[in-house]
Amino acid sequence: MRTRRLGTTDREITPIGLGCMQFSNIGAGGRFYGATSRDTATAIVRTALDGGVDWFDTAEMYGGGHSERTLATALRDLDVRPGDVAVATKWTPALRTARSIGATIGDRLDALQGFPVDLHQIHMPFGALSSLASQVKAMARLQRRGRIGAVGVSNFSAAQMERAAAVLAAEGLSLASNQIQLNLLHRDAESSGVVATARRLGVTLIASSPLRSGLLTGRFHDEPERLERVRFIRRALGRFNRRTLDRTRPLIEELKRIAAAHGASPSQVALAWVVTFYGDTVVAIPGASRPEQAAEAAASGDLVLGGRELDRLDEASRGLSHAR
Ligand SMILES: NC(=O)c1ccc[n+]([C@@H]2O[C@H](COP(=O)([O-])OP(=O)(O)OC[C@H]3O[C@@H](n4cnc5c(N)ncnc54)[C@H](OP(=O)(O)O)[C@@H]3O)[C@@H](O)[C@H]2O)c1
Repeated sequence: MRTRRLGTTDREITPIGLGCMQFSNIGAGGRFYGATSRDTATAIVRTALDGGVDWFDTAEMYGGGHSERTLATALRDLDVRPGDVAVATKWTPALRTARSIGATIGDRLDALQGFPVDLHQIHMPFGALSSLASQVKAMARLQRRGRIGAVGVSNFSAAQMERAAAVLAAEGLSLASNQIQLNLLHRDAESSGVVATARRLGVTLIASSPLRSGLLTGRFHDEPERLERVRFIRRALGRFNRRTLDRTRPLIEELKRIAAAHGASPSQVALAWVVTFYGDTVVAIPGASRPEQAAEAAASGDLVLGGRELDRLDEASRGLSHAR
């Protein structure tokens, strides 16, 4: 996989990373996908590494540190050394002030068991108890002190990104990334100006849920009875229902046609699209519930789609954002 730069930092990362919300086991993240055993998590991480993936996204919120600990344990079990891969985690802002960013960095580093926080992200733009500017300044302090490698945000609008970048610029630093939902069924980042702003500022967009929580694999279109087995929170938030399947079926058929031409799967084509269509601005962090899924995702980083194929997917997915 040809690497690309994280924002304007010196760090290069593969276009495909591994999302680790699947290792939450408890809390909202755990309720979304269910539990992943330590052995399965290690097998998923091993498969991702074998496929060339060189960075991992986790968060404090994913099981209150459980995902961070599981990821770090897997990396250690696999004899990966700190510095061999990049780790991105996130601070949870809900019901907290900016002071907690500095107060909790030790917990993050403890959970990561020797792996550095290469990218620390503000998980969502909650400014109720302290302004976003003071949160970004607290992140800047951590970077200046060498406790984190770079500062990122998540779920920030174009205007919020702009403000975060300005606060960091005043500190002599830059905003590395904004993690947002971006996939063939959720392209709001284009109309909202997030993509254009990221390009202008040199910020990397990290596409979360790049498979739209599994819908873009085509598995549910092929076997709609699978919908009943999806956990409630994933079904509700991901709009896993028959109407969504009906509306999105033409896109899935297009994904299948392109996949067949490449000897690939629809999910690989969906991932290749999101990390190609927007140029080097976008990288993706597909999650995996099983090792084979991580292998498939990693291989998509080498899948080259032609210009006409990108256009066909662009056309087939227009108007489907927020498909209900
Ligand atoms: N910043 C934020 O607010 C935010 C929000 C959400 C997610 N995230 C991040 O983004 C990452 C990815 O998002 P996500 O996990 O929600 O969604 P996703 O990557 O779109 O979907 C992952 C799920 O799709 C299914 N899947 C994956 N590959 C497959 C394949 N080849 N064949 C069949 N099914 C496959 C698996 O579920 P099953 O096998 O169980 O069906 C897997 O757990 C998360 O891990 C997290 O790091 C961030």
